[in-house]
Amino acid sequence: MNIDQLTEVAYAMVQPGKGILAADESTATIQKRFDAIGVENTEDNRRDYREFMFRTQPAMREHISGVILFDETIRQKAKDGTPLVEVIKQSGSIPGIKVDAGARPLPGCPGETITEGLDRLPRRMQEYYDLGARFAKWRAVIDIADGIPTWTAVKANCHALARYAAICQEADIVPIVEPEVLMDGDHDIKRCAEVTEWVLKTLYQELYELRVVLEGTVLKPNMVVPGKKSPKQASVEEVAERTIQVLERCVPVAVPGIAYLSGGQSDEDATAHLDAMNKIGGFPWHMTFSYGRALQAAPQKAWSGKPENVAAGQAAFNHRARMNGLASTGEWSKDLEKQAG
Ligand code: 13P
Repeated sequence: MNIDQLTEVAYAMVQPGKGILAADESTATIQKRFDAIGVENTEDNRRDYREFMFRTQPAMREHISGVILFDETIRQKAKDGTPLVEVIKQSGSIPGIKVDAGARPLPGCPGETITEGLDRLPRRMQEYYDLGARFAKWRAVIDIADGIPTWTAVKANCHALARYAAICQEADIVPIVEPEVLMDGDHDIKRCAEVTEWVLKTLYQELYELRVVLEGTVLKPNMVVPGKKSPKQASVEEVAERTIQVLERCVPVAVPGIAYLSGGQSDEDATAHLDAMNKIGGFPWHMTFSYGRALQAAPQKAWSGKPENVAAGQAAFNHRARMNGLASTGEWSKDLEKQAG
């Protein structure tokens, strides 16, 4: 294990002004995104879409520190034969890889899931390193409902995350540890704060027990928000304050950075919340984005699968990447959002 290299990559992933593009949708998930814009889910269309995103300038060079890829994409070549990994590297961005095999029902715990994919992971890591990946991602999913989450699900998922993280570091790959507390329910923001705190406390205990070197990791958490169906929604300031409070209680100072998932928030909410946290500041980690939907929804819509719309798709990506880059240093504003949009 090369701790210096791991630490260097982890800091590069969360450097001020930049964040991560989560473009690691599985074939089934990208199907849902393509269905929404009327695009057929073929290998060529997936390649064309991702190629135009990865070639977008200045977004890639100025605001995207790393890209999380799906297994198919890390092996794919652009139309001109250049590996997509090289296209990403040419912008100075770091290729990463999603290595979990998805969340499946957790036996004995109705309504809860466990993320699979640990089998043969050390061997796969070696291959991904050779293909150019310098960081990886594993997403654990924790739902909130009556009697949920259970301790069983929290513990099992955090243990799997820690096992994954230790395997990554053995292969000199920085683990993004992603324990996502979903915002699908009708719970209020206090309940999200309680569950997020419980999950993060458990996660850092497991990472310690599995001997993961925190300096060579990046945390990808949910923000503390009310459930989408909650009658009590929260202000931008409340989300920012509660999220910082929970993280300060749970995340050791040794962790280089925090890169949030967007989790179903609107594009502008995801940007505004990140910006508000960085405007408050005073915490020991760099805080940035690792968004999937909140970075890609607008470019996907503008593109809609038509070659003549690539420039419009790239303009939409440039805009969202710039807005989130500004939010990562607390320099975003609604006025800038409107002017550039
Ligand atoms: P969202 O930002 O769309 O939540 O996706 C981020 C991600 O990587 C989920 O695993």
